[in-house]
Amino acid sequence: MFHTSHIEISQSAYKKNIRYLKKIVGEKATISSVIKGNAYGHGVENIVPMAEACKINHFSVFSASEALQVCRVKAPKSQLMIMGFVDDDEIEWAIEHDVEFFVFDIDRLNKTFETARRMKKRARIHIEVETGFHRTGFDYAFLPQLIEILKENKEHYYLEGLCTHYAGAESISNYVRIREQINLYRKFYRYFSRHDVLPCKKHTACSAAVLTYPTTIMDMVRIGIAQYGFWPSPETQMFRFNKDPKDTNPLRRLITWKSRVMVVKNVEAGEFIGYGSSFLANKKMKIAIIPVGYSNGFSRSLSNMGRVLIRGRRVPVIGTVTMNTMTVNVSDIPSVERGDEVVIIGKQNRLNISVASFSEMSNQVNYQTLTRLPADIPRFVVK
Ligand SMILES: Cc1ncc(COP(=O)(O)O)c(C=O)c1O
Repeated sequence: MFHTSHIEISQSAYKKNIRYLKKIVGEKATISSVIKGNAYGHGVENIVPMAEACKINHFSVFSASEALQVCRVKAPKSQLMIMGFVDDDEIEWAIEHDVEFFVFDIDRLNKTFETARRMKKRARIHIEVETGFHRTGFDYAFLPQLIEILKENKEHYYLEGLCTHYAGAESISNYVRIREQINLYRKFYRYFSRHDVLPCKKHTACSAAVLTYPTTIMDMVRIGIAQYGFWPSPETQMFRFNKDPKDTNPLRRLITWKSRVMVVKNVEAGEFIGYGSSFLANKKMKIAIIPVGYSNGFSRSLSNMGRVLIRGRRVPVIGTVTMNTMTVNVSDIPSVERGDEVVIIGKQNRLNISVASFSEMSNQVNYQTLTRLPADIPRFVVK
């Protein structure tokens, strides 16, 4: 097998997460599975069929290039939505393939109607409104003009949705800001309905909003991180735990990342290990070289910090992580040998290395750790 590590994706964990999320979301709202960033590092080609097997038929990505990738693997009846970048010359492709997309400024709106008119085919659009995140979205002050343009171009689009995105629903410190966003979104919606421009779906909620702000669960929710088994923040987990103390940990991580020991060797006391002088052996040591380094998604900031699992024991990374390797101290495992399984993220016997501990040590958030896992590490779906 031509690779130095591989990732296993657990189908049963995914099913469990979706079951839990469906319980919270309820029957009425559609779940859109957010699969941008190569499905948060899990591989679009793995997650799309797993989601479809759980009766999820709506997917969200960031760009047209990600959408193109999803089109190759999704079932024909599954809907796809682009929440961010669509270049002018990609609008035609989106309309042609019934791909839904966010429209958040007048340039894109005009370009969309121009293209739809020329193609004699309706675009499937979601109007994104600015409620306080200040990334993309139409301002409230622009509403009269927006409604007029929408009314004038009725025959060129289906208004699939009216949407917004929250500025940090995972943290209580943003509570006031999120409440204001919810209120402003409602004001936008009232304006639309007063003028008889009615979106098919109202949608605003990401994972954190779904888990902690029930009123944000409308006609559709856009769930990313939680479907992969991660809490958006410890606060979100605490909130759910307080609601239902029986559900201590309803979310399950899908991912396990494994490699193998490449070399085992002994080092004398007084020798430096690896590049430079960041680790000095203070006694005779046995070390193992693992063929995974920062070019494989194992951050260099885990030098002298990280941990991996070998033969059911937790062993520390020593010295600097190089481009293609890390070195670990296996002095306490005399039987260790070349080819032994190394768990970088996941469980081995009774021990576990979580993405969160991995992220905290390398000063990243889970989202970052996951999406930085290189796409060329082979991923296998396991039961
Ligand atoms: C517009 C939008 N909706 C939904 C999501 C999903 O967020 P989460 O992964 O926190 O559920 C994202 C992710 O950043 C997003 O940008």
